[in-house]
Amino acid sequence: MSTEAVLSAATASRKKTTTQSLANKKARGQLISMLTAYDYPTAMAAERAGIDVILVGDSLGMVVLGYENTLAVTMQDMLHHCKAVRRGASYPLLVGDMPFLSYQVSTAEAVRNAGSFLQEAGMDAVKLEGGRERLDAIRAIISAGIPVMGHLGLTPQSVNQLGGFRPQGRTAVAAQRLWEDALALQDAGCFSLVLESIPARLATWISKRLTIPTIGIGAGAGCDGQVLVAHDVLGLFDRFTPRFARQYNNLFTQMTQAFSEYMDDVTSRRFPTEEHATEMAEMEWKAFLEKAGEKMDESI
Ligand code: KIV
Repeated sequence: MSTEAVLSAATASRKKTTTQSLANKKARGQLISMLTAYDYPTAMAAERAGIDVILVGDSLGMVVLGYENTLAVTMQDMLHHCKAVRRGASYPLLVGDMPFLSYQVSTAEAVRNAGSFLQEAGMDAVKLEGGRERLDAIRAIISAGIPVMGHLGLTPQSVNQLGGFRPQGRTAVAAQRLWEDALALQDAGCFSLVLESIPARLATWISKRLTIPTIGIGAGAGCDGQVLVAHDVLGLFDRFTPRFARQYNNLFTQMTQAFSEYMDDVTSRRFPTEEHATEMAEMEWKAFLEKAGEKMDESI
């Protein structure tokens, strides 16, 4: 069977991923795959590949919109891209990432904004960053019927407070605080937890003790699943690749090469050729020229 046939057979027999099916995966010891996507074709490819969870991450700000960090990303930006992803994929669990200041100001705003991810953009759940300081917002969102994924460790929206994009939880005190936050998020009702850039042994320890699935990024192999930014996987973001990411392709180089070949073809008249053009019947052309007052052999 060709790869294409295997992939379409996999999609045909597929059931929608739910928060419950992720819990079942953890219980069965099956690993969860999560990938970011910000647009229609990437969502389609992720679905076709069988990815369990698509996160429309606020990493959008860096890898798609070209900001230095995620702080400038707005609700409008997120909803716009979530809608595109929704049109491209329906089987994976779709998680919308709540941007900076969309859940920190008040619980009422947090619930309203979380609701927009489901109501306007067709997401299945939301993700937000932070531990004990976010419990009120998390509880309020969950009590409105919206599943919440937590995010601990390196939380990029706090980059200015953390002093840069650096690993977290590396002292006994910080590790203890992280564990307490993880437990508090589970108790508040989060269905899953992203653990970003924390020591591998701490992530494994936490994952073994929580009943909800943990999804690691730069947190070693002991989590219940892994997430990567699609642009890092594809080699599509040239500015830097985090040490913890694995690049499976180098699409930025391929894209630059393709654009450069296209430019050469245009400037040297190798593109377009007859196969890319549309023609009109001789008789219509003749009639057109007659109306324009030109003869066939004078034309063009
Ligand atoms: O925004 C994002 O892409 C994320 C993942 C890195 C977990 O939060």
